[in-house]
Amino acid sequence: MSESPYHSFGEQALHYFRRDHEGPCRLPIEGPAAWRGAELFDDARFVERIGPEEIAELERAVAAVRGRGLALAQVHREDFPLPTLCRRAARWSSELVDGRGFLVLRGLPVERWGDDDSALAYWGLGLHLGTPGAQNPAGDLLGHVRDMGEEASHPNVRRYRTAGEIAYHCDLADAVGLLCLRTARAGGRSRIASSVSVYNELLARRPDLVDRLYEPFQLDVRDEQGTGGPRTIPVPPCRYAGGRLRTFYHSDYFRSAERHPDVARLTSHERELLDLYEEIARSPELALEMDFLPGDVQLLSNHVVVHARTAYEDDPGPGRERHLLRLWLSLPPPAARPGTPIGEPSTRGAGSPEADPGSVVPRSADAASASSPTTPPAGS
Ligand SMILES: [Fe+2]
Repeated sequence: MSESPYHSFGEQALHYFRRDHEGPCRLPIEGPAAWRGAELFDDARFVERIGPEEIAELERAVAAVRGRGLALAQVHREDFPLPTLCRRAARWSSELVDGRGFLVLRGLPVERWGDDDSALAYWGLGLHLGTPGAQNPAGDLLGHVRDMGEEASHPNVRRYRTAGEIAYHCDLADAVGLLCLRTARAGGRSRIASSVSVYNELLARRPDLVDRLYEPFQLDVRDEQGTGGPRTIPVPPCRYAGGRLRTFYHSDYFRSAERHPDVARLTSHERELLDLYEEIARSPELALEMDFLPGDVQLLSNHVVVHARTAYEDDPGPGRERHLLRLWLSLPPPAARPGTPIGEPSTRGAGSPEADPGSVVPRSADAASASSPTTPPAGS
């Protein structure tokens, strides 16, 4: 078997940024991805429990891979059979692409398995959810989200390697998974919001700001590899086509791009837009906060969900620190939508009568055509 079981960092970023665009949407967007946190709080429907038979299935697959001596990067989907769980995995993948855009899998026995087998089981499950991908140009496949003692305020430090707060952003892949191996002593809450609902709210409050989301913002590359490539790349946060809004948002990297002397300062209008976008995403009405349990896997679509995290404090002592394993996934494109599509602009909304989302010619290139596949930042 020669084909790689995973995407390179560049392939994955290009896949993620390949977003069709017809023109700005000026009507509220409905559908399952337009959820509001206040409505989902205490709603167990987004938690999927993994049962004992499914755990046994994962354990058999891990043992088979161990028995053959395969390294994680050599494991293809065929090497990791999940005869029962694969059907649920397909549904979870659909939920990310066509549904709410997030879910939590609960109950992986990570303490019993230990970190190495947990990582392999997680990777194998990921192969049934989509196509995993490298998380930086160096090709790291499972990111370790933990405090490495780095200085959070340094402009080139990736904040997932610190215990600091992380502002709303998206990672550079269709979906991100976080497997919790260990929790913090305090803090480290996950905060997510539907970027579709944030858009709707922005549209209702300040329709004059919305069009700017379809123009590129400079994204700070924060070149951790020091490869000498571009220091920023232009990315339009929003793309809209076929009734679907896809958003790439990155608070820190949009804001820090202007530290580079060749990048224009953000205008007051742009700052107002970013501030309001995040204010809406943080509001109790829209945000959904959750604490992880060891053995939880949080899966998020980076097209319809923005994510953030509160600062945390670790338990002192070796091996007791908060530790999450991050997986990036490319997913199949959304299913064809016959009949009344989910996510079509609502006709009940407050849009202007002349608004015709299909009639506006896009004025900005998407990042997939505007940049080299190896230049996007590796996420936070
Ligand atoms: Fe992230």
